[in-house]
Amino acid sequence: METFVDEPVRVATLGDWRALERLERECLPDPWSDYSLKRALETPGYLCLICGDSGYLIGWQVGDEAEIARLGVSFLGRGQGRGLLLVCVAMETWRARGVKSVWLEVRASNQNAQRLYERAGFEIVGRRPRYYGDGEDAILMRRESVDTGDSS
Ligand SMILES: CC(C)(COP(=O)(O)OP(=O)(O)OC[C@H]1O[C@@H](n2cnc3c(N)ncnc32)[C@H](O)[C@@H]1OP(=O)(O)O)[C@@H](O)C(=O)NCCC(=O)NCCS
Repeated sequence: METFVDEPVRVATLGDWRALERLERECLPDPWSDYSLKRALETPGYLCLICGDSGYLIGWQVGDEAEIARLGVSFLGRGQGRGLLLVCVAMETWRARGVKSVWLEVRASNQNAQRLYERAGFEIVGRRPRYYGDGEDAILMRRESVDTGDSS
């Protein structure tokens, strides 16, 4: 994978709450509340990653499965590999914690994110009609065998 990212990806802590809140509002049309973000940062089982102050990923693990819930990169930080790097670091972190498969939902119209996830080894396994509050369908994606890092 070619990347121009010179910012490390690290596990976010409560001190990153403001940065996560800003990124969440900039990147996603249905931002999580402050309460939800803080709970993610504080609750075991959640994985919160941050890449400099430009990108973030939030997911959680239950048993040997995990789910990517939020992924965003600031407008200025896009197109330089941050999104893919965040997903790869999450996969590697979960692999080390015994995760066997990772799931996610993505808006049917969000081709850019679907391409990113396909590059990270995900495949489309279903569709959830009217999954989002505005009525848009979700595409359900899964990656099995989370044991090889970046599949590209
Ligand atoms: C989707 C998002 C996270 C991508 O972040 P990014 O850092 O720009 O992505 P990367 O630079 O790591 O790109 C990785 C791959 O994703 C795909 N991709 C990402 N942005 C793309 C774009 N604008 N056009 C086409 N493909 C794109 C490409 O396959 C790309 O690999 P390539 O450049 O080698 O072809 C970012 O655009 C974003 O925050 N969007 C709004 C929030 C969002 O949609 N989140 C996902 C919700 S499920």
